[in-house]
Amino acid sequence: MGQNVNMAKQNIFTCNECGASHTKWSGQCDACNAWNSIQEDKPLGTGPAKKSLGGMRGKRVILTDLASKEPPPPRTMSGVDELDRVLGGGLVKASALLVGGDPGIGKSTLLLQAAARFARNGLKVIYISGEESAGQIQMRAERLGLTKSPVRLASETNLRDILTTLEAEKPDLAIIDSIQTMWADNVDSAPGSVSQVRASAHELTTFAKTNGISVIMVGHVTKDGSIAGPRVVEHMVDTVLYFEGERGHQFRILRSVKNRFGPADEIGVFEMTGKGLAEVKNPSALFLSDRGKPAPGSVVFAGIEGTRPMLCEIQALVAPSPHSQPKRSVVGLDGGRLGMILAVLESRCGVPFTGLDVYLNVAGGMKINDPAADLAVAAALVSAREDAALPHDAVIFGEISLSGALRPVVQTENRLKEAQKLGFTSAITPQQTKKVAVAGLSLRYTQDLATFVAETFGDRGPEK
Ligand code: TYD
Ligand code: MG
Repeated sequence: MGQNVNMAKQNIFTCNECGASHTKWSGQCDACNAWNSIQEDKPLGTGPAKKSLGGMRGKRVILTDLASKEPPPPRTMSGVDELDRVLGGGLVKASALLVGGDPGIGKSTLLLQAAARFARNGLKVIYISGEESAGQIQMRAERLGLTKSPVRLASETNLRDILTTLEAEKPDLAIIDSIQTMWADNVDSAPGSVSQVRASAHELTTFAKTNGISVIMVGHVTKDGSIAGPRVVEHMVDTVLYFEGERGHQFRILRSVKNRFGPADEIGVFEMTGKGLAEVKNPSALFLSDRGKPAPGSVVFAGIEGTRPMLCEIQALVAPSPHSQPKRSVVGLDGGRLGMILAVLESRCGVPFTGLDVYLNVAGGMKINDPAADLAVAAALVSAREDAALPHDAVIFGEISLSGALRPVVQTENRLKEAQKLGFTSAITPQQTKKVAVAGLSLRYTQDLATFVAETFGDRGPEK
């Protein structure tokens, strides 16, 4: 018992960046390495539980069959395909969503445009901003050409007042921009702290369920990709979407990382224009549009993002390093994956990168999670190192295992069709278990990375 009391007293310091619990305050969070992010966090019910549950029984819970008698929840389309697909086929009634992204990436723009579309399709929509004044949002609406849309607007941070308003107005959809600015007056800490964000998100999610109102919350994200403070919010809501993109690029990608009502990892592609976000219906063409002449280090990867095939260019640059510890710099791909591929090239194919700086980039600000990028990355690296360009009309994909063997990947046929559609005439892929053929596309199968390197860079390849 004494131990239980101690346990309950612990874990009251929480990191504002990653949500990790600590038993005492310290300057740096040892979970995410953020500085000055740890705060004392008062749990909602303070103090230890008085009695174990064993002694006191509650009421019986009603059990039901696996087969539901309820019809599936109604959905509303926005009419923006790129958004509806990411939602899993439109917005589900009474669902709670979180839209995360870097500050300035375009979350408010996206949601104001979505609000107007949903309103046009018959939903009653309320947009609450805790970050901007009504005037600022009206200016944005003007720029987006949405001033005639029937979306109702308020600038407010007091959650109690917001819930009272929503209860009275009974909209179909409420947008809360952002969850970090919300202030629940029953929680004794500053807006933006983990406890506030957690309490506000919890209130809003419960409110959505009990009142049949869909709620979309905006959340700002920290550098490491976690939504500031409330990783916990991700667990509460039905759907988590991230809005990504590079500052200097106009492309924006909306990605579902969790969806109780549809597939995760689905993406929608947008372009930020002077008049807001425009849908990109053919992203492959856009991502390849800047591709110049055949160049060493440049490879076209035939990827799959969610359910849709997408081609993009992977670029590598390899240069002698002036540093004792050569640089490994990656944009748009996982750094750990690069390390693995370099190790396989070195130990299985005799292509060392010691003393060389390595830069790897996905053109256009795209982020790739598909393991099939391995072979394209390896090809770009060796091509850059050997200063030998690959055929300009070929796409490449395949997963590399630590042994250096190549593994076939999912949706080979869709990748090939997309390549063919964009004018490519050949593809380099791992040996397939099943025969695939796409008219107009010649396939070159390779079994392992060493053979691929030897065949492709043959005589100018590195000596063993
Ligand atoms: P915003 O939606 O405010 O970002 P967030 O809510 O994620 O912080 O968008 C910010 C950027 O988008 C801003 O730098 C200006 C740019 N922008 C355009 O390029 N075109 C537009 O039509 C609008 C409204 C914004
Ligand atoms: Mg904003």
